[in-house]
Amino acid sequence: MLRTHTCGELKKENEGQIVSLCGWVSTTRLLGKSLAFIDLRDRYGITQINFNLLGKFSENDSAEKKQSGWESNLNLINKLGREFVIQVKGEVVERKAKNKNIPTGEIEVEIHSADAITILNESKTPPFTIEDESDGGDELRMKYRYLDLRRTPIKNNLLQRHKVGQAVREYFDKNGFADIETPFLIKSTPEGARDFVVPSRLNPGEFYALPQSPQTFKQLLMVSGFDRYYQVVRCFRDEDLRADRQPEFTQIDCEMSFVEQEDVLHMFEGMVKHVFKKVRNLDLPKFPRMTYADAMKYYGVDKPDTRFEMKIVDLTPNPSPKGEGSENLVRGKGFKVYDDAELIGGICAKDCAEYTRKQLDELTEWVKRPQIGAGGLGYIKYNADGTLKSSFDKFFDEASLKKIAEKFSATTGDLILILAGAETKTRKALGELRLEMGNRLGLRDKNKFECLWVVDFPLLEWNEEEQRWFAMHHPFTSPKKEDMDWMYNGYTEKNSAHAPKANAYDIVINGVEIGGGSIRIHNKELQQQMFKVLGLTKEETEQKFSFILNAFEYGAPPHGGIAFGFDRLCSMVIANEDYIRDYIAFPKNNSGRDVMLDSPSPIDEKQKKELGLK
Ligand code: AMO
Repeated sequence: MLRTHTCGELKKENEGQIVSLCGWVSTTRLLGKSLAFIDLRDRYGITQINFNLLGKFSENDSAEKKQSGWESNLNLINKLGREFVIQVKGEVVERKAKNKNIPTGEIEVEIHSADAITILNESKTPPFTIEDESDGGDELRMKYRYLDLRRTPIKNNLLQRHKVGQAVREYFDKNGFADIETPFLIKSTPEGARDFVVPSRLNPGEFYALPQSPQTFKQLLMVSGFDRYYQVVRCFRDEDLRADRQPEFTQIDCEMSFVEQEDVLHMFEGMVKHVFKKVRNLDLPKFPRMTYADAMKYYGVDKPDTRFEMKIVDLTPNPSPKGEGSENLVRGKGFKVYDDAELIGGICAKDCAEYTRKQLDELTEWVKRPQIGAGGLGYIKYNADGTLKSSFDKFFDEASLKKIAEKFSATTGDLILILAGAETKTRKALGELRLEMGNRLGLRDKNKFECLWVVDFPLLEWNEEEQRWFAMHHPFTSPKKEDMDWMYNGYTEKNSAHAPKANAYDIVINGVEIGGGSIRIHNKELQQQMFKVLGLTKEETEQKFSFILNAFEYGAPPHGGIAFGFDRLCSMVIANEDYIRDYIAFPKNNSGRDVMLDSPSPIDEKQKKELGLK
């Protein structure tokens, strides 16, 4: 080895030792003409090199010798640029000015001669500073990702990701799961996104699809009898990108045989707890459960952030087309917006009654942005003096406002924010408004982890536009036993009112869906019926899914499982954030490009021809 120690490990105990370190020059500082400091960095940390430029000479050494030693030392220090790779040999000494912020801050390595430094490789000046807070913009850092990965925050993320992976594998190993690989060149899997496809040279005009998940393979492994399977596996989905989405991402894909929903939840709750314990030394309490219906009703979303309350209150009176139904507090007052709305609902922001006109206008603009899409924002201020003031005072007297305030359990000092409009859109907008207020009020505590199972998802959803049923999770998900009759007799009713529930579940941490799964269909006939309900003809079913339907004829055990988004699990466990790019070594940008490789890119005519694309 060119080194005896790393740049992160020397301490006071090493004082007096002659060591050899290798790393990158982070900074050089020249103090007058007699002293220079080099900060030497590697994956493990930074060590200060104290370079006495005057050198170490005996009394008998000539003045010329001293002069030339000093000159060569000075030359070397002037030559060393940022990010040069060097080897340094010297003695560990105690520092005069200690740096309490770094583990090696009590010592430095002392050298006296240019001979103590070997330049292993030179470096061009990097296009941005390799520091915790870099001066480089996003695109530039993506282009030079290998340099960005030298920065401590990103480097630590990847090392922590490794730790999460280790903890996951340790848990599965302990619980008898076998890690089995499945192919990447496959046929389309129906997970709801578009496929990435690969042309086949040997079968001109034909294409493989890259897996959106190993769903069907893991089910086939259950038919094979593997009973407990997992795989940390790359998945590919051609969909629009967001902070928590990449076109290629990693799943911790899992499946178990002879289980019911409860067994699956128990096993994988255990995995998440194990990871938090190992990586953050946190003991998480039992994960609460919430039905999909309640999540939508109280949080306007199927992945609620339960770090704070501020639940949605439905004011839609009874009888309402779809609302939860309640006493009429809002209709018939002459306020057309509320008279006509399918859903009227709101949230109560504690201690916000003093919001200014400007703040409320700004919030109104916020809800009107196309991403939220609300028509406007109503409010009621419950003033400190007990009076109530609303944005619709023209139509509501104070007693009516008070009744609404009671429904929100509001007290003096609170601000009620109300949205009204079409049911689905308004519920979603209320959910977004709730999160926004949570942000503004600092209620989304970075140090808090609220894990949650969302259960009882609908099996299917009626799509008005396409006039057909869509699987909420995927078509291999089993309906609940009590809903089996619907699969044969109810599905012709073309709306979601009586749609069956599924044994499907998501795991949510602080409003981020980190995993989802279900108990599967393991019976050929029911699976065929599912495809029929989804509108596939017999021929289409045969052509796309005969492999799994055939397998179900050879003793398929009852089975179920889950897949975690590994990138999301990492970003949550490590930093409690949903932005996954910083936890992936070589991610794509927002348009799905790898700016470092400049990919995707055209291929030459010859290659196209070979692939039968021309
Ligand atoms: P699902 O489609 O819910 O289920 O995916 C499982 C988990 O994968 C993560 N995920 C993503 N992460 C980053 N970028 C993406 N584009 C992306 N898409 C999904 C999410 C999600 O919860 N086969 C089923 C699982 C099963 O039924 O066992 C499946 O893939 O965290």
